Amino acid sequence: MNTTIPDNYIPQESCLQGKIILITGAAGGIGSIVSRTFAGYGATVILLGRDTKGLESLYDEIEDAGYPLPALYPMNLEGATDKDYMDLTRTMEKEFGRLDGLLHNAARRDALTPLWRVNIEDWFEVLQVNLNAPFMLTCACMELLRASVSASIIFTTDHQAREHHAYWGAYGISKHAVDGLMKTLADELENQPSIRVNAIDPGAVKTGMRVKTYPGLDPNIMTKPEDIMCSYLYLMDEISRDVNAQIIYAQATI
Ligand SMILES: NC(=O)c1ccc[n+]([C@@H]2O[C@H](COP(=O)([O-])OP(=O)(O)OC[C@H]3O[C@@H](n4cnc5c(N)ncnc54)[C@H](OP(=O)(O)O)[C@@H]3O)[C@@H](O)[C@H]2O)c1
Repeated sequence: MNTTIPDNYIPQESCLQGKIILITGAAGGIGSIVSRTFAGYGATVILLGRDTKGLESLYDEIEDAGYPLPALYPMNLEGATDKDYMDLTRTMEKEFGRLDGLLHNAARRDALTPLWRVNIEDWFEVLQVNLNAPFMLTCACMELLRASVSASIIFTTDHQAREHHAYWGAYGISKHAVDGLMKTLADELENQPSIRVNAIDPGAVKTGMRVKTYPGLDPNIMTKPEDIMCSYLYLMDEISRDVNAQIIYAQATI
């Protein structure tokens, strides 16, 4: 069952001060706003994505705002191998020595269609980005997360794809599996209280992915990514230290 953040949660100005947080799909609709928000609340963000230009312009925005300087890590999750993940963690180890937050935000969609019409190539690519990448990245980052006094892993789920099964193809199935991945990992880390594992469901948010999925809907009436940032902050903030194995339904609050 989905749950929400406490009604009275108000992020303190520097609630993420000093935290090192890796964000995948950082140049995307939600990813870019989360990255800016986390940096604005004091975190050093590591921006991972395949759109190098988008990452660079996000870097400039964060720098211009006077927030902690981010790190860029261009990477295509579609073809990434074990070695690529190990190279990434070696770089982070050298630069930072630990990881306090890991937000699995990147995802790709396939067409809404019956399963038997799903393009096989799309099937593999979607599962690679949405499921295999978060799995491999989490495994590769585990030692860095253990090196933090308090680390938060957040997976991104989608209740629409989980609860309305028909036609959601590889994307829908990947989000079912992401929930399972989150629950299994949270269970296995139960005796490691310094690492909490949860998932966030952003709800219907105005991004490229949403607009493409629902071309008939008016984008002007969709929730903006900025409006759901409290839920992302809550899960990275120390205040959620004891929250584990939950699916948080993002609330439009600010
Ligand atoms: N928007 C919604 O209404 C909604 C609802 C429920 C769940 N979600 C979830 O929220 C998360 C963010 O989605 P969004 O709405 O912000 O969509 P988006 O704007 O399309 O962002 C997705 C991000 O993932 C990146 N990505 C895709 N394939 C990649 C790859 N092979 N390697 C590296 N990065 C890759 C994209 O990069 P490119 O730009 O280069 O493709 C983009 O930065 C996703 O997990 C999505 O499932 C969104």
